[in-house]
Amino acid sequence: MKRLFLLVLGFAALMAEGAEDPRRAQSAEIAARFQKVLGERLMSAMVADGPVAAIGVCRHEAPEVAARLSAETGTKVARTALRVRNPDNAPDAGECAVLKTFERDLKAGVKSSPEHFEVAADGSARYLKAILTQPACLSCHGAVLAPEVKAAIARHYPNDQATGFAVGDLRGAFVIEWPASGGEHP
Ligand code: HEC
Repeated sequence: MKRLFLLVLGFAALMAEGAEDPRRAQSAEIAARFQKVLGERLMSAMVADGPVAAIGVCRHEAPEVAARLSAETGTKVARTALRVRNPDNAPDAGECAVLKTFERDLKAGVKSSPEHFEVAADGSARYLKAILTQPACLSCHGAVLAPEVKAAIARHYPNDQATGFAVGDLRGAFVIEWPASGGEHP
């Protein structure tokens, strides 16, 4: 009896850590879809029309794709970063702490892109997946921007903090939030 109790307690602890929570894998899938769609749109716009026009993809399509994925999955899908271009993407205190952990892990040489999953006491959950800077990001997030790109970004984002990144740097994270009632899944 006592052993059963301990077993149940152990399982509850595991669940609290999110070790067995199906939402972790589902979150990873949602983040991967977001990344794939955005990457494809961005690359085709860059090739077809150049970086100034492609700014429109990031500006309009990123929030649209996030909204569509949110509606489809019953989650809240977003992007955040320690240094943001759009202040709407600024992290809350919890996200900020996770991003700093990601940055530390990357500096310490963690090879794969870090992720984090947590379940709150009310059953809601949050997943973050690191977004690393790639060569294709540098024309808009690198240390040196073409003057016309710089001007277009400054026009839309006067408080832009999202430049000066190098390949491999933590650019930000995908965030997938599950509501407290999110036990049932699509
Ligand atoms: C054509 C220019 C352009 C390119 C190329 C580009 N971005 Fe962005 N990025 C933007 C703009 C503009 C925003 C602001 C979007 C918004 O208003 O939500 C942004 C926002 C972001 C954000 C959300 C956080 C923030 O700063 O507001 C992340 C994360 C991000 N970009 C990552 C990347 C990554 C990773 C790449 C390369 C794969 C990339 N970007 C390539 C222009 C670009």
